[in-house]
Amino acid sequence: MPVTAADDIRKSDVRATIVMNTAKAPAARASAETCKCAIVRSDHFSLYYGSKVGVKDITMDIYPCAVTAIIGPSGCGKSTFLRSINRMNDLIPHVRTTGRLEVDGHPIYDKRTNLVSLRQQVGMVFQKPNPFPKSIFDNVAYGPRLQGGNRKGELQHIVEQSLRAAALWDEVKDDLSKSALALSGGQQQRLCIARALATKPRVLLMDEPCSALDPIATGRIEDLIGRLQSIYTIVIVTHNMQQAARVSEYAAFFCLGELIEYDHTSKIFSNPRNKQTEDYITGRFG
Ligand SMILES: Nc1ncnc2c1ncn2[C@@H]1O[C@H](COP(=O)(O)OP(=O)(O)O)[C@@H](O)[C@H]1O
Ligand SMILES: [Mg+2]
Repeated sequence: MPVTAADDIRKSDVRATIVMNTAKAPAARASAETCKCAIVRSDHFSLYYGSKVGVKDITMDIYPCAVTAIIGPSGCGKSTFLRSINRMNDLIPHVRTTGRLEVDGHPIYDKRTNLVSLRQQVGMVFQKPNPFPKSIFDNVAYGPRLQGGNRKGELQHIVEQSLRAAALWDEVKDDLSKSALALSGGQQQRLCIARALATKPRVLLMDEPCSALDPIATGRIEDLIGRLQSIYTIVIVTHNMQQAARVSEYAAFFCLGELIEYDHTSKIFSNPRNKQTEDYITGRFG
């Protein structure tokens, strides 16, 4: 993937961002690591599309109530790994997995896994906002209705809570019956986040959630990620190094389907152990 002007950042810029970012990190890090309570555990997990490698031998723990960024060049398996955490790749023919992937202690590739409840527990937000062609209310109420929550008052409460959590309530509260497709791109993406939050997930997966948005809408989503991380475990794929530095506490660098380095974001950006990581974050390849 060619490095764009926006991505081609100077190391000093990244360092400056990291200094700000690490100020809030130690407490969450300490609690996550000392109690070793990973919420997502990948143990030698590989995924193949037919004979082609999607990701290979990924072993990593993802910690609760923190943001973990997955970075790496195009085609290195970032989306594949993210989609593996809620088994979205199952929809692709000839997909095969080996190793183990656990969410909250449950091996999710076990035959007995209920995919509907897995995806309610592990929500996903995609690169391009994808609201359903329905009203704002019905978009957010979609998951809770699937879960059997049909009582009007209860649904209204969940919709309001979710829209508030996604920082969209004040902009849409008088227009809940309006089509979601009439919202701006940034609003649509926050609506998709509200839709994911409505099923009360533990983990929120975000695959380049800002890449279709302008800088102001991007800033809003980043602020939102900052607020949500105290409640949810967020795993975000981004090709934007500054964004990874701004929003995440942990960063995993993938290359050619493999996990090359995984550490605190501050360490990855200021003092990576691996030469490939350093070359990538300093823009020598990408
Ligand atoms: N649906 C698919 N069918 C076959 N190969 C795929 C599919 N999706 C991704 N791949 C391949 O898997 C590898 C990892 O892709 P992907 O996870 O999309 O990378 P990234 O998100 O880092 O750009 C690439 O070689 C890509 O071509
Ligand atoms: Mg991708």
